[in-house]
Amino acid sequence: MRWLLTGGAGYIGAHVLRAMQAADLEVVVFDDLSTGDPGRVPAAVPLVVGSILDGATLRRTLGDYQIGGVVHLAGKKAVAESVADPLRYYRENVVGTLTLLEEMRTAGVGRLVFSSSAAVYGTPAGETVEETAATRPESPYGRSKLVGEWMVQDAAAAVGISSVSLRYFNVVGCADPTLADTGGTNLFPLVMRALMDGARPVVYGADYPTRDGSCIRDFIHVQDLAEAHVAAARLVGWRRCAETVNIGCGSGHTVLEVLDAVGEVTGRDTTPTISPRRPGDPVRMVAAAVKAERLLGWRASRGLEAMVVSAWQAHHPDSVARRLPVHPDGPAAGPAAAVA
Ligand SMILES: NC(=O)c1ccc[n+]([C@@H]2O[C@H](COP(=O)([O-])OP(=O)(O)OC[C@H]3O[C@@H](n4cnc5c(N)ncnc54)[C@H](O)[C@@H]3O)[C@@H](O)[C@H]2O)c1
Repeated sequence: MRWLLTGGAGYIGAHVLRAMQAADLEVVVFDDLSTGDPGRVPAAVPLVVGSILDGATLRRTLGDYQIGGVVHLAGKKAVAESVADPLRYYRENVVGTLTLLEEMRTAGVGRLVFSSSAAVYGTPAGETVEETAATRPESPYGRSKLVGEWMVQDAAAAVGISSVSLRYFNVVGCADPTLADTGGTNLFPLVMRALMDGARPVVYGADYPTRDGSCIRDFIHVQDLAEAHVAAARLVGWRRCAETVNIGCGSGHTVLEVLDAVGEVTGRDTTPTISPRRPGDPVRMVAAAVKAERLLGWRASRGLEAMVVSAWQAHHPDSVARRLPVHPDGPAAGPAAAVA
């Protein structure tokens, strides 16, 4: 069976593509290259340049390549940009997903893995957030992903599409410097760029009720995330389902802990500039990761060290990355040892 991977020229999509290839899944990439890079798509993989808003091109692609399932990552992802230009986000993420679902129905393509986000939760209440928690997204971006999930679930029920929506937590790192996140709005690229420019990284808020005052996030290595897509593709290929699954490590690091790790790995001074809290930044956002393990047989295996080392080498290819010191209670770098 052949898979269509929308957004396969993007940061996460390029990793998903490689994980699917490693699992012997045949893939065609569909991408409008608005933020993607065709250089991330190996020459042997067909790349259709088109928008998910363009039903005719989607229809032709689904038919020409006899697509049996879709892994749908194409979309816009910057929260602040979504606040400034919400209609663009609703068009790309909501109308784009709607168009894809319509064309899948017409072509009789019945398997879908959908890229959602922990942003659908808003500010969760508990230590970890389960898939059954209330969804109260706090940005047009988060709302556009939640509407996407609803459309996928409703289509799954009505037209027999088997689906898994993956709610990603904080995606970082890379498998290779050429596949790094160049988007620039997430913590890791911002910190790496600040260090490269000789500037201080900025931390938004150091007065949160956490162990060091900075926010807690569940950072997940993009290679682990990519492997979760393979597991989800196998599930929808195997049986009819309509599931929503968190994809995180299940444990959290504070932003200041990440900066310490970056300092250890890079040998640079990562003393931050503390700025006021940003509106809408939850204190703590950590996945309950049990369902992913139970349903997909998947769990994250790469720790903070692998995330930081790969991100640093991508931004500073000539660098020598150091190892993180071993924590007295266990390996400081592994997800299991991350203190929540
Ligand atoms: N990066 C994260 O931390 C994160 C977290 C949660 C969810 N996500 C979601 O994961 C997906 C991929 O994110 P990413 O970080 O790789 O971003 P990215 O910008 O690197 O990749 C998005 C890809 O989609 C393509 N694209 C955008 N609009 C399109 C359209 N209308 N038609 C066809 N292609 C289009 C872009 O050219 C790009 O290649 C997005 O849906 C994003 O919302 C990302």
